[in-house]
Amino acid sequence: MSGAPAGGAPEDPLRPDRLPFDRRFTPSGAYAQLRSAAEANPEEFWAAVSRRELFWSRPFTTTLGGTPPEYRWFEGGELNAAVNCVERHLAGSSAHRVAYYWEGEDGARRTLSYADLGREVRTLASSLAEQGFGPEDRAALYLPMVPELPVAMLALAYLGIPFTVVFSGFASEALAHRIQDLGARLLFTADGGYRRGRVVPLKEIADRAVAQCPRVDTVVVVRRTHLEVPTSSVRERDWGELLARHAPRVPAREVSSEHPLFLLYSSGTTGLPKGIIHGTGGYLTQVAATTRWVFDPGPNDVLWCAADIGWVTGHSYIVFGPLALGATSVLYEGALDHPSPHRFYEILERYGVTELYTSPTALRSLRRHGDEPARSHRLGRLRLLGSVGEPINPSVWEWYFRVIGQGRCPIVDTWWQTETGGILVSPAPSLDGRPLKPGSATLPLPGIDVAVFREDGRPAAVGERGFAVVRRPWPGMLLGLWDDPERYRSAYWGRFPGVYYTGDYAVQDSDGYLWFLGRADEVLKVAGHRLGTAEIESALLQHPAVAEAAVCSEPDPVKGSRPFAVVVLKPGIEAGPGLAEELASGVGERVGKFARPERVLFVAMLPRTRSGKIMRRVVQAVVLQGDSVGDVSTLEDEASVEEVRQGVARLAAELAAARSSRSS
Ligand code: PRX
Repeated sequence: MSGAPAGGAPEDPLRPDRLPFDRRFTPSGAYAQLRSAAEANPEEFWAAVSRRELFWSRPFTTTLGGTPPEYRWFEGGELNAAVNCVERHLAGSSAHRVAYYWEGEDGARRTLSYADLGREVRTLASSLAEQGFGPEDRAALYLPMVPELPVAMLALAYLGIPFTVVFSGFASEALAHRIQDLGARLLFTADGGYRRGRVVPLKEIADRAVAQCPRVDTVVVVRRTHLEVPTSSVRERDWGELLARHAPRVPAREVSSEHPLFLLYSSGTTGLPKGIIHGTGGYLTQVAATTRWVFDPGPNDVLWCAADIGWVTGHSYIVFGPLALGATSVLYEGALDHPSPHRFYEILERYGVTELYTSPTALRSLRRHGDEPARSHRLGRLRLLGSVGEPINPSVWEWYFRVIGQGRCPIVDTWWQTETGGILVSPAPSLDGRPLKPGSATLPLPGIDVAVFREDGRPAAVGERGFAVVRRPWPGMLLGLWDDPERYRSAYWGRFPGVYYTGDYAVQDSDGYLWFLGRADEVLKVAGHRLGTAEIESALLQHPAVAEAAVCSEPDPVKGSRPFAVVVLKPGIEAGPGLAEELASGVGERVGKFARPERVLFVAMLPRTRSGKIMRRVVQAVVLQGDSVGDVSTLEDEASVEEVRQGVARLAAELAAARSSRSS
């Protein structure tokens, strides 16, 4: 067994193959079998997986069609996502199985069986159809983590209406951009949502967004907080009234495999967030298969994916993956450590969670409270732990393993992206007993061909850092970018022809294990959330004092990284802490509080390439390291690097002076 690659995480002596696993994790050898079947004939393999996992009302005729890179999976086939996730589980005793144990942050609780879910989905779908909504429409959802969110997603899927869920931490401008770009007619929101004991006034934020979106003609409002909310200017429908209606029942709309199921707006480095389109048949195949391979939920298991449905993890592993398998999940509304860090462990204990899936940021924040909260709860039902969204530090991995998993549970470090739809690289303990290495996502799942390339497109050597790519199409891949086929081609298929570019750095070790090392582009990961530099910069540029802005990130002990901004002011404008605060707050108000830069530095000039692009990496290097700025040969004006340095030196001096005057 080799050690970790140079520059990667250090090898850890903890070897799960030496640990007393639950019998269910006895290597079955299935991984090798699945993998060789997939290698022998990838299309036949995926066709068999899809037929096994999904109900197709019309069988597909071509497994992989389209014109690269516009691949189309399962052409000729028809299906409905709500039928696959709910309706087909309603026959017999599985109808009484719990779909969701929901817990509100305020302590409210609700249990929804598949029968309950089916009833609500059908009733809502019928009411929406009665109001004239159909597959030619699009919808947006801006809701807290309440059961109404998956119900609404499924009701829209039932009618074949593509939707986008907007994370409830986004502010009105960010919400408006997404609604407008998609051309949504229908918006779901709530009077408010609970977050750390406060009520977030979602309806008020949504009203401000709707005022900028003339195509929205209906807003459906869920009552969650009993906050008094004014009525908006467009047609408003109360969720409770829609569910109480006796609208004529409509059948589920069978759609073609490539019909868009949902879009998720995700950030790039240029322009505003782009709508990543996921289809129906390919996406559902990927999430159902990976839920089975990675989490393997049995009939008595309870899965808790402690993510927000506003991001892809929640779509795939709270909603579509587990529901496609008829599994039971926990849905929790609020902050994991509210009102105390015991909350997280109480949920694990109360619902008897067997598979837990969360982010390194959540783990780092729980670890700060020490081991006592975990030790004071019964966590004996846990059998599998998962991590997603960022590289997991080996020390956090070890803590997760020893303290939360009590040394019994394997950890699945799952690597994937919004674009990939589902997990591509991860251990699969139900399929094999491969040794785990803390910090490595290990090997690609069956049927997935991930490689590490050098800049010139040749494979990197063992231990050499390069760019992670996917060489063969996979069913859960994005269908494209909304309204922007050119950008789809250039962002993902332009760098290495014929190969999908992930935007991540990775290293492969001598066991073939993959170590994902973070983004190679300028996409930020803050607390596991993906943020676009361009979206934050554009918020900064809306302030009348700002001439130019570059947003970068610096390490953070809990969030992994946090954004900071370097700003050039318009001539004659005085920099100062008051203005820095105003600019940071402006980002909070336009994009969302979670995107707010922690520091704003003022400089006279920003380094640019000859083609005019701001060199964020240089700015970042100067701010973090002071000097080693790397290759500056493409800078338009090298003096501007010096400017950045001087600006930083000034700020450092100012901060030091402020600190010493406070302490004296
Ligand atoms: O950089 C990788 C990181 O998250 C990015 C994708 O972010 P997003 O589209 O928001 O999806 C997050 C949930 C899948 C990737 O490009 N990432 C994701 N999982 C891991 C990871 N980095 C290291 N290890 C992981 N397990």
